Amino acid sequence: MKTVSLTIDGKEIKAPRGQKVLWAALDNGIYIPNLCALREKETQDASCRLCWVEIKGKARPVTACTETVEAGMVVNTRGEAALRLARTALELLLASNEVDCANCPANGTCELQKIAAHLKVRLKTKRFRKILRKLPIDDSSPDFSYDPNKCVLCGRCIWVCRSKNIGALGFAHRGFKRRMTTFADEPMAQAGCRDCAECVAVCPTGALTLKKS
Ligand code: FES
Repeated sequence: MKTVSLTIDGKEIKAPRGQKVLWAALDNGIYIPNLCALREKETQDASCRLCWVEIKGKARPVTACTETVEAGMVVNTRGEAALRLARTALELLLASNEVDCANCPANGTCELQKIAAHLKVRLKTKRFRKILRKLPIDDSSPDFSYDPNKCVLCGRCIWVCRSKNIGALGFAHRGFKRRMTTFADEPMAQAGCRDCAECVAVCPTGALTLKKS
């Protein structure tokens, strides 16, 4: 495998040619917040806007999940401009997300908690006015629950469901009303879901969680 040498946060690393900066950083113990990226995807959606980094020679921060490593590249994950963008993206997400960690099955493993701690943003941030969607929970699957109020619209579950040739999940509506749902908005159990729970495995928050057996 051909590799390139680059520097991230002052650490010299080698990464496979063609790899994205996000994976190169994570593989070398350097955390960059991310929600929507999946290694298996050929093309990243770059929709969560959390993985900003600064690269020497570039005028503006770029998203690490879409930027390919280059020999001699100098990456800074802690630049003020990149952190400002990431913090704003996170606080906008939190403004429309139910934050109820104490009663959430994902408490302790939720990526939002990890990202908030990394970016030093309070989960109960008041920077933007809180507007909750108050959507009903889908408990129709025998194996898992879907709470759309905790969904961050990362799209991981949709991609995984399609990659298994099931395709029970998709996005509906636009803007604030956008949400992950099933075709015709049917309950999971009636929407062709095969209860493989692969969507649960990639959900970064408590939106999709296994039921206790
Ligand atoms: S992980 Fe890069 S934009 Fe979401």
